[in-house]
Amino acid sequence: MVRLGALGVGLVFVLALLWGAVQPRDAVTPDPVRALHLAPTEIEWSYRGPGNLGIFGTFDRGQLQRGFQVYKEICSACHSIHRVAFRDLAALGFSAPEIKAIAKGYDIPSIDEKTGEPTTRKGLPSDKFPLVYANEIAARAAQNGALPPDLSLITKAREDGPNYVHSLITGYRDAPANWKVPDGLYYNPYFRSLNVAMPPPLAADGQVTYADGTKGTKDQYARDVATFLTWTAEPKLEARKSTGVAAVLFLLIMTGLGYLSYKRVWADIKRKPASI
Ligand code: HEC
Repeated sequence: MVRLGALGVGLVFVLALLWGAVQPRDAVTPDPVRALHLAPTEIEWSYRGPGNLGIFGTFDRGQLQRGFQVYKEICSACHSIHRVAFRDLAALGFSAPEIKAIAKGYDIPSIDEKTGEPTTRKGLPSDKFPLVYANEIAARAAQNGALPPDLSLITKAREDGPNYVHSLITGYRDAPANWKVPDGLYYNPYFRSLNVAMPPPLAADGQVTYADGTKGTKDQYARDVATFLTWTAEPKLEARKSTGVAAVLFLLIMTGLGYLSYKRVWADIKRKPASI
């Protein structure tokens, strides 16, 4: 009888375990973040080429320049792009004098040669874009405890980076009634914890005026700046693609040649009847 009881208890445990194993996780402990979190919207990027496949496609130089303008006029108040040098901007189609002028607009930390005191000097094309804050502590002190990351590599550092950046900066909205947003944070369903410390950076259409006549809408700003940040993260994207396409073409041609020579080398042997 005791044995039967023990068997029964064991059976209950095993069944409970099996039940737990086959239940979906959300049914056991509902995760409100998962329920509200949204995946980034898929955008057709010019640098991904036909079909958005990412095989062909080049950066649109005009779009890169517009994206740089959006970065400079809005994002650079809080975010650095410290891995990019001013002279790298030549890839965006800026001329040497234009790059010089852009670099000159930035103050670079330096040492006064006469006194040895820390000071600043005007930027040179060979300088990197300066940090916005001296270090993480200064950044957090200025940003209510949050850290605005350096954006040089952000499109590589986040899954589906370019789409994510576009969705994140255009995706602010009112929180649903069942979601609490602490003071100083903003509801954004694309951010991993839904409450982001970055204030909505794109306030309104017309916030940035483009010189090339492109209409300034929030969506356009987001597309342009995300394209620019794709370039900062992978400036050699175009070279990588053309090398890749050339390599695949080469391999295809070599496969064709290999097949033809195989046919030729074996032609005599295959034609003979097997009557030796
Ligand atoms: C007023 C300051 C400020 C401005 C302006 C600003 N940001 Fe931010 N940004 C922040 C802060 C602070 C964070 C950190 C947020 C957090 O960790 O909650 C952040 C985070 C981010 C992130 C990372 C999100 C993640 O997944 O960790 C991206 C991407 C980003 N910002 C892009 C931009 C872009 C693009 C612009 C310009 C259009 C911009 N930001 C303008 C303050 C700013």
